[in-house]
Amino acid sequence: MRIRFLEANNFRRFKDVEISFGEKNAFFGPNASGKTSILEAIYMLCWGKSFRTLRDSETIRWGENSGYIRGEFEGEDFLNIRVSLLPSSKRIQINGKNATRMSLIGKIPVFFLSPEELSMLDGPPKMRRDFLNKVLSQLDKDYLSNYRLYLKLLREKNAALSKGGRAIRVVEIINERLLKVSLYIWESRRKLLSYLSDDEMKIVYKPSGMRIEIALDSVKKALHGLVDKEIKRGYALFGPHLDDFDVLREGGFSYRRFASRGERKWVIWRIFSKIIGLFEKRERLPIFLVDEILSELDGVKANAVMEEMSAIRAQVFFTTLNKEHVRGDFRAFEVKDGEIRGYNR
Ligand SMILES: Nc1ncnc2c1ncn2[C@@H]1O[C@H](COP(=O)(O)OP(=O)(O)OP(=O)(O)O)[C@@H](O)[C@H]1O
Ligand SMILES: [Mg+2]
Repeated sequence: MRIRFLEANNFRRFKDVEISFGEKNAFFGPNASGKTSILEAIYMLCWGKSFRTLRDSETIRWGENSGYIRGEFEGEDFLNIRVSLLPSSKRIQINGKNATRMSLIGKIPVFFLSPEELSMLDGPPKMRRDFLNKVLSQLDKDYLSNYRLYLKLLREKNAALSKGGRAIRVVEIINERLLKVSLYIWESRRKLLSYLSDDEMKIVYKPSGMRIEIALDSVKKALHGLVDKEIKRGYALFGPHLDDFDVLREGGFSYRRFASRGERKWVIWRIFSKIIGLFEKRERLPIFLVDEILSELDGVKANAVMEEMSAIRAQVFFTTLNKEHVRGDFRAFEVKDGEIRGYNR
């Protein structure tokens, strides 16, 4: 699917804008001009909520009571999607009919890459797990359902563990159920990480934060062996909710500890670029939204990123501070003080 047209009214900085898009699109302009807000509007039309906030009403232009965004999408179908924003509610309409967020999800696959993901390398393990979940949920619906079930069982297990020794039987029953779901999650994550790993960027997976083998017997043993300790502590000490991974450069040194900022950005792009390759093997390509990947990269690397972006077989949107980054095959938009205009070189 592709978005051909966007209208934003009282959305973030924008009072009233209308934009027609091409296959490859670039937004350039100074800080706080509204570049990321455009990506956010496209994302909300595809995914039903923002990537920046859980409170939709925050996106209504300050001083206004309501706003809306509307997008026209083409592909397998024609879709006219409108998200109306009110201080305490939001309404989604697909082709003029009211719709739920769940019925919207999946209609227009979308993938967002943000500078915050830089912290994926050196931030807390949760950021790396969030990244794995984000990618795998988009690639595999069964992953998402297994992951949701895992979280539910984990909550039940922790509730039982908090009751102490009396709960041992219940914990063992839950553990049996956790086993199958955990193995699915581990195996999916292992496969993804081994696909992403190469000589330049070796990825070491640590299921449950350890270097263990993902096999029924070893996992069963570990789960079983920890029950007493878990009861003492009152919460689960083993499972995909504790997963982590490390990215190593040649020689085995961790990028987490030994990478310059530009290098870190480059590694993140390498990871994303491989993920894009995974999506490209599928029939339904997502719309790619790439926020600020180019700053801090030297000329050679920035060019390589641009070249790869223009070769992607899907619609691409990216933002940059520097208009020199925008190549000829991108439709360029200048964003300034909440105004957007097409830019002719
Ligand atoms: N609801 C709102 N109403 C009006 N302005 C808002 C609202 N929410 C955010 N803003 C402002 O809109 C501006 C644009 O934000 P945005 O993140 O889109 O900028 P940007 O061009 O991506 O900047 P940067 O280059 O720094 O990433 C910011 O100054 C922000 O404070
Ligand atoms: Mg921005």
